[in-house]
Amino acid sequence: MYDIHSHILPAMDDGARDLAESIRIAEETVKKGIKGIVATPHFMEEGYRFALPELEEKIRQFQEVLKKREIDLEIYPGAEVFIYPGLIRDLEEGLVPTINKSSYLLLEFPMYGFPPYTGDLLYNLQVLGYKVIIAHPERYREVVEAPDFLYRFARGSIYAQVNSSSLLGVFGERVKRTAEILFLHNMVQLIGSDLHSTGRRGQTLREGVERLKELDREKAELLLRNNRRVIEDKELECLEPLPYRGKGGLLDKLRKRFLS
Ligand SMILES: [Fe+2]
Repeated sequence: MYDIHSHILPAMDDGARDLAESIRIAEETVKKGIKGIVATPHFMEEGYRFALPELEEKIRQFQEVLKKREIDLEIYPGAEVFIYPGLIRDLEEGLVPTINKSSYLLLEFPMYGFPPYTGDLLYNLQVLGYKVIIAHPERYREVVEAPDFLYRFARGSIYAQVNSSSLLGVFGERVKRTAEILFLHNMVQLIGSDLHSTGRRGQTLREGVERLKELDREKAELLLRNNRRVIEDKELECLEPLPYRGKGGLLDKLRKRFLS
C-alpha cells in the first residue's frame, strides 16, 4: 500500500512539528502495512515554500534516520501545491515539485471557492503534459453543496484524491457523504491519508480503504493500484465518471426550478 499525500516531514509546514513526531508517524505508517509514502508539504506562492534540493536533502536525512531505526518505509518527494495564477511559469522553471518528479501535480484549492481562472489553468497544465490531481475535493464547499461540480473535471481527465480521514468522518458527516458519492460515481481515482500528525489527523489510509471496500471492493483496490501508478508515473486506470443525480445534481436543479 502506498500513500500519496502526507505532511510527514519535520518542521516543513503545519504537519509533523519535529523529527520525533515524524518518526512516530513513520512507525504508525509501517505498522499499518504501508510500504511507501509521498511527502507532500504545503507549497504556496507565498508562505510555505521550498526548493526541490532542500526537499530532497530533508528526505535523504529522514530516510537515513529511519534506516538506522530499522523502520522500513520509502519516502518520495512531492508537494501539495495551492493554486495561484503564476503556477505554470514556476512549474516550467522547475520551482514547483510534482509527485516523485513525475507528471502528476497534487493541487489544492481554497475551501470556499474555486478561483475564476481555474478552468484555463487546468487546461494549460494539461496542454503542457501535466496530470492534475485535485487534493481532497470532498472538503471544498462547492463540491459538498453539489458533488456533480467535479463531474466535468473528471470527464476532462482531471484526477482527484479523496482523503481517508474524510471517509472516517473526521471533517463531519457532509464531507464523509460527499467522499462516498464521489467514490461511487467514479469521480475520484486516488486516496491519500493527508496525515499531519498522529491521532485524529494521523495515518488512516488503511481504515479509509476498508471503508471503501465496504462500498465497492473492486473500486477500492483500483484506487490503491492507482496510488502506485502515480509514483511510477504511469497512466491511471479510470472508470467512466457517472453524473450525480442527487442533491445538487441535474434532477435536483430541475426540481428546484419546477418548484420555485
Ligand atoms: Fe494536505
